[in-house]
Amino acid sequence: MFLKYQKERVEVLRKVPLFAGLSLRDLNFIARYVGEKRVKTGAVLARQGRRERDFMLVLDGTARVERDGKVLADLKAGDFFGEMALIDGEPRSATVFAESPCVLLVIGRHSFQKLLDSVPGMQKKILITLCQRLRAADAALAALN
Ligand code: CMP
Repeated sequence: MFLKYQKERVEVLRKVPLFAGLSLRDLNFIARYVGEKRVKTGAVLARQGRRERDFMLVLDGTARVERDGKVLADLKAGDFFGEMALIDGEPRSATVFAESPCVLLVIGRHSFQKLLDSVPGMQKKILITLCQRLRAADAALAALN
């Protein structure tokens, strides 16, 4: 299996933008908390309104984010999702499904909290992504008016 060994996981993590620039020690620490998931095209990875608690990062493939059947965004390798329900404890804000066969990095709720608290820069990178998504949403909303 792709991520069976700690060393392989570290090599995969090293290439992920969210973990860029981290020390080998930090990467080894993160590798203990991540899992891998392989899904087929069309698989639902997060469902709007559900109380699901996984953080996922696309390692390979593309995924689509939809709310009430409307497309919000397309995600590619390096992009992550599922952080919102984990951070504010609310149900999923949107549905995410695989647009192609996907390989995903999966981090459960407790592991995500642990990593957020201990991995240098992770909180800031997630905040920056949230800002970028809010800016894109603002621009789309303003274009409607
Ligand atoms: P969460 O609410 O846990 O589950 C659905 C996920 O879709 C959400 O976290 C974000 O990661 C992602 N998401 C929601 N809205 C957007 C958006 N406008 N652009 C990109 N991703 C989004």
